[in-house]
Amino acid sequence: MATAQETHEYPGELNDVPGWFWPLDQVLFSWFLERQERLDTRGDLLELGAYLGKSAILLGHRLRDGETLTVCDLFGAEPPDAANRAEAAKSYSSLTRQAFERNYLSFHDTLPRIIQAPSSAVVDEVAPGSCRFVHIDASHLYEHVEGDIGAAKELLGPDGIVVLDDFRSEHTPGVAVAAWEAVLNRGLRPICLSSQKLYGTWGDPEPVQEELLAALRGRDDIAVTVERAAGQRLVRTRARGKRLRPPSLPSSRHPA
Ligand SMILES: C[S@@+](CC[C@H](N)C(=O)[O-])C[C@H]1O[C@@H](n2cnc3c(N)ncnc32)[C@H](O)[C@@H]1O
Repeated sequence: MATAQETHEYPGELNDVPGWFWPLDQVLFSWFLERQERLDTRGDLLELGAYLGKSAILLGHRLRDGETLTVCDLFGAEPPDAANRAEAAKSYSSLTRQAFERNYLSFHDTLPRIIQAPSSAVVDEVAPGSCRFVHIDASHLYEHVEGDIGAAKELLGPDGIVVLDDFRSEHTPGVAVAAWEAVLNRGLRPICLSSQKLYGTWGDPEPVQEELLAALRGRDDIAVTVERAAGQRLVRTRARGKRLRPPSLPSSRHPA
């Protein structure tokens, strides 16, 4: 697992930034954000759990004039409960806000709006219905993710996109419970799945799913499978081998 100490060098490219944001998800984030741009869907971007900035830097790359990217992370601040404290001590003990800011500013001229607080703070800081894209990747404990999903539902505008990280990993059962509970009981409609992330909406998933299927079926580097479960159409995506064509990524001002 990457640690913050690995980043005393400035990143020469996005994939130099330690984190858990894999190439297929970089392609999918870019596709959803580009589609919103194409359709002129306006709104802010929000990330809960930024770590050293790997996914936030890509979100910042897709920001348009007049829009705000907000990131919320503890960045070493006191977690709100003992379980979250243990999680942070195990996985993010050396994280600092300074390291995040240094990485982010290697790719962008200005920092995003930063909320250094537990993710439960966002509902008091971000306006209801103001977001077009929310990435939930903070604590992976059920009670937190359940709250973060509720926040995303409140903060997203119509047809906004929510992405849930680690919805199926062996070490994050709380995310799996919260994710499928949201699908079965809280109106969340899955759009597609990668091995790491569930992409969904509280709007109508069908138009975006159809466009995504057409886009992915035109690529020979991504395998797509469709199946139904509990009345939901699930589009599964998988990178074929290691030759995934990357999306347009932001350039570092410190190229290697
Ligand atoms: C998996 S990392 C995020 C990875 C990042 N999105 C990426 O792609 O590289 C999870 C982050 O959530 C933060 N975090 C953990 N518990 C949190 C909480 N209760 N509220 C806000 N952030 C939290 C941690 O400090 C850590 O930086």
